[in-house]
Amino acid sequence: MAGLKYMSGFGNEFSSEDPRCPGSLPEGQNNPQVCPYGLYAEQLSGSAFTCPRSTNKRSWLYRILPSVRHKPFTPMSCGDLTENWNEVEPDPNQLRWRPFNIPKSSEKKVDFISGLHTVCGAGDSKSRNGIAIHMYTCSTSMTDRCFQNADGDLLIVPQQGEILITTEFGKMMVEPNEICVIQQGMRFSVDVFGETRGYILEVFGAHFELPDLGPIGANGLANPRDFQTPVAWYEDRTVATGYTIVNKYQGKLFSCQQDFSPFNVVAWHGNYSPYKYNLENFMAINCVAFDHADPSIFTVLTAKSTRPGVAIADFVIFPPRWGVADRTFRPPYYHRNCMSEFMGLIKGHYEAKEEGFQPGGASLHSIMTPHGPDGDCFEKNSTALLKPERVAEGTMAFMFESSFSMAVTKWGLDTCHRLDKNYYKCWEALKSHFNPNWKPSSK
Ligand SMILES: [Fe+2]
Repeated sequence: MAGLKYMSGFGNEFSSEDPRCPGSLPEGQNNPQVCPYGLYAEQLSGSAFTCPRSTNKRSWLYRILPSVRHKPFTPMSCGDLTENWNEVEPDPNQLRWRPFNIPKSSEKKVDFISGLHTVCGAGDSKSRNGIAIHMYTCSTSMTDRCFQNADGDLLIVPQQGEILITTEFGKMMVEPNEICVIQQGMRFSVDVFGETRGYILEVFGAHFELPDLGPIGANGLANPRDFQTPVAWYEDRTVATGYTIVNKYQGKLFSCQQDFSPFNVVAWHGNYSPYKYNLENFMAINCVAFDHADPSIFTVLTAKSTRPGVAIADFVIFPPRWGVADRTFRPPYYHRNCMSEFMGLIKGHYEAKEEGFQPGGASLHSIMTPHGPDGDCFEKNSTALLKPERVAEGTMAFMFESSFSMAVTKWGLDTCHRLDKNYYKCWEALKSHFNPNWKPSSK
């Protein structure tokens, strides 16, 4: 949306006032006896009070009414949203989904919340350690209702249709090829402009951070200045018919009513805020000599576990770039991984699978499940002339990689009817090239 403003930086100490109320941020203190403009002060904590400074997160919101003024929460239907990882028997097969269906607006009104479907996940929001992967498919804007996730952070990857996200911190327009992160507890509402689809990575118990760069140095991959945080925006709106707050808490949905818009924050400051990022700004680092580097070079954001170097989940992209490796089979190598790999495609064609993996679809290669290029890809790239070439032009594939062994939901395996039962066949064409009489070629 034209005219939306953002502040630049990752995890900065931001401060913002709606320009309609100059001086609304208290000066020199967080909770004065009486706040400017008669506002209420409310802190939103994103970390334990006592976390070290490097991980301590909180923001102060100055709002017309505090969040606590609401009627009691009551359970509501969760639809296809679940944290039950025992709905179906485990399935270690390579899984691939055709593009997930989007409800037609003419048939049924489905908004962002009703359009949430859990595909897979593991762990537990109660013990604050785990992950869930959801699809959202919707065609109607949320009206007089907002969402808050008490369970963790949501990394949202729009695939079709831009989404206008109104948050307590301000508004963000997020288009396909951009991503956004709504951190734990932040209230937001989603407007859509047609048939809309995207992916969501939810992590319990950690916030996303930029990966360390090691020998890469101070710059590269996702640069902090390219992250954008909204500026304060408020509405002083009474909703006599009731405004609904939907709260995901311990894997279940609850709703409550209040008679005013929750987007009543006139000013805020702090380092705990939502943000967006355009994937085009990713500065890819890659091999300029030989061999295929591990995909961790493409990590945009990571949610770290307490084990050094092991992520609850990484968000990794495969952006357009140059392939220049000498004497190398350039596509991804065949492998089995101690991590789970969920992949999605925002646009274009993924390099290791020319067919079958489509925008709006997905694949899951579970822990120690073998995967790699299909038969055609292997043959083509074993004989290809190795000149510099553009890879993934017009494409944006991504991976949610997790140290958790994820379970697929009943919806993912069955109800969605998008599972491609023939996926395994793409490797059937791989044939033995073994020659016991092979000799090194004389040079
Ligand atoms: Fe892999």
